[in-house]
Amino acid sequence: MALFRKKPEQKTPQEELVLPRHVGIIMDGNGRWAKKRALPRTAGHRFGAEKFKKINEYCLDRNIEVVTFYAFSTENWKRSEEEVSNIMDLFIDYLEEWLTMDDSKNMKVRFLGDRTPFSDRAKQLMQEVEEKSRKFSNQLNIAVNYGSRSELVRACNLLKNKEGEITEEDISSSLYTAGQPDVDLIIRTGGEKRLSNFLLWQAAYAELYFCDTLWPDMTFDDIDRALEFYSSRQRRFGGA
Ligand code: IPE
Ligand code: IPE
Ligand code: MG
Repeated sequence: MALFRKKPEQKTPQEELVLPRHVGIIMDGNGRWAKKRALPRTAGHRFGAEKFKKINEYCLDRNIEVVTFYAFSTENWKRSEEEVSNIMDLFIDYLEEWLTMDDSKNMKVRFLGDRTPFSDRAKQLMQEVEEKSRKFSNQLNIAVNYGSRSELVRACNLLKNKEGEITEEDISSSLYTAGQPDVDLIIRTGGEKRLSNFLLWQAAYAELYFCDTLWPDMTFDDIDRALEFYSSRQRRFGGA
C-alpha cells in the first residue's frame, strides 16, 4: 500500500504515520541481483547506484530529516580489485553528477567514513559536494569506507587527551554523525538479518526492518512498508 503517494485530502486520521527522524539504509543484494540475471556483479552495482538516487529522492519527498545510506564498508575492500574499482568509479560518477544538479534538491551531504584510501579526485569531489550543500537542510549521509568499530576507535582517539571523565555525549559528538539525531529506523534489503558494522552506537534503540527485496529491485512501496512498520512500533527506551 503506497500511503504516501495518495493526495493529502485522501488521508484518513488512521493513516497519519509517526515518521522516524533518522533512517539508515543498508543497501544489500546487488551481487545476487546480477547473478540471478547472469550478469557480472558490477552490473548489480550500476543498477544499485541508480536505485540509490531514486530512493534518496523518495525519502526527501517524505521529508525525512536525516537519511544515511551504507554504500561501502571498511570490510568491502576484501572484494576483487575489479569490483572495488567499479564501485569507486560509480561513486565518482555520482559525485560529478551531484555537482551539476540544481539547488532544488535541498540536500546537505556528509560522507561518513575514513577518506584516507580514496583517490585525490574522490577526496576533492567529496569536499566540494559537502561545501556546496552546506546551506541546505535535509541531511543525506553517505557511508563510504565506513565501519562502526573504526568510527568508535577514532572517537576514542579524538577524546584520549580530554580532561576528566568521558561521557556518552562526548562519544556521540566525536562520531561522523556528530550533531545528528540517533538513527530511529534501519532498513536492510537483501534478506540478511545483521547490521554488518553499521551505526552500532547510534542504533542503540533503533527499530530494525529487514526485507528480502534485493537492493536494485527496491520500490517506494518497500520504503512505505518500512515506515508503516516503524509507525506501528511502541518505543519504550527501557521504560515500562
Ligand atoms: C551491496 O550489495 C553493495 C555493497 C556492499 C557495496 P552486495 O554487493 O553486498 O550484494 P550481495 O550481498 O553480494 O548480493
Ligand atoms: C553491508 O553489506 C555493507 C553495505 C551494504 C555497504 P555486505 O554485503 O558487505 O555485508 P555482509 O558481508 O553480508 O555482512
Ligand atoms: Mg552483500
